[in-house]
Amino acid sequence: MSISVVAFNGSPRENGNTSLMIRAVFSALEAEGISVKEIRVGGSLVHGCAACGQCHAKQLGHCVFIDDPMNEWIGAAKAADGIILASPTYFANVTTEMKALIDRLGFSAMGALKRKVGAPIVVARRGGAMQAYNALLTFFGITQMVVPGSSYWNMGYGLQPGDVEGDEEAHDTMKNLGANMAWLLKKIHA
Ligand SMILES: Cc1cc2nc3c(=O)[nH]c(=O)nc-3n(C[C@H](O)[C@H](O)[C@H](O)COP(=O)(O)O)c2cc1C
Repeated sequence: MSISVVAFNGSPRENGNTSLMIRAVFSALEAEGISVKEIRVGGSLVHGCAACGQCHAKQLGHCVFIDDPMNEWIGAAKAADGIILASPTYFANVTTEMKALIDRLGFSAMGALKRKVGAPIVVARRGGAMQAYNALLTFFGITQMVVPGSSYWNMGYGLQPGDVEGDEEAHDTMKNLGANMAWLLKKIHA
């Protein structure tokens, strides 16, 4: 049985620091035979939750609005065994597009995520990483997902694309996160 992990990247930068952190986790996952996919949500035109309640009332399992890529992302999250939410820190929080994903995925597909494996990753230049990290982490709690730890909280530091390559501890943390995620996924799917 093949196990898969999808990583949603909240950065609008295609090869930015968040993407580099995701790839470090992916290397460890792929080494354990787990298939991986990155979806960049940052830079996409998406709107926030309209609070119409239609997804819930009709038990749709997806969002009622079809004018942006959100339902494609919701489908990818539901199909995966593991979900990584990764975001740069913007004004001490996650990016706007990541927040839209959290709200609309969480509201429309909450029950479908139960007991999947989840992990937060954040990147920052200097401040606010912990708050952004907690914004991602709380999503996994309320959706009844299971969260593996690592040797540090999953964060990397850098400003310009590529800067995070100099953060050696972040790379170790991502490598360990990938290994722990793979271990947990294999236990669940044994
Ligand atoms: C709008 C905006 C707000 C930012 N706010 C913060 C912040 O609050 N704290 C911080 O340390 N870095 C902040 N940064 C810097 C980014 O977190 C940093 O450049 C990060 O490496 C970007 O990741 P990326 O390369 O994946 O896009 C901000 C950057 C932008 C564009």
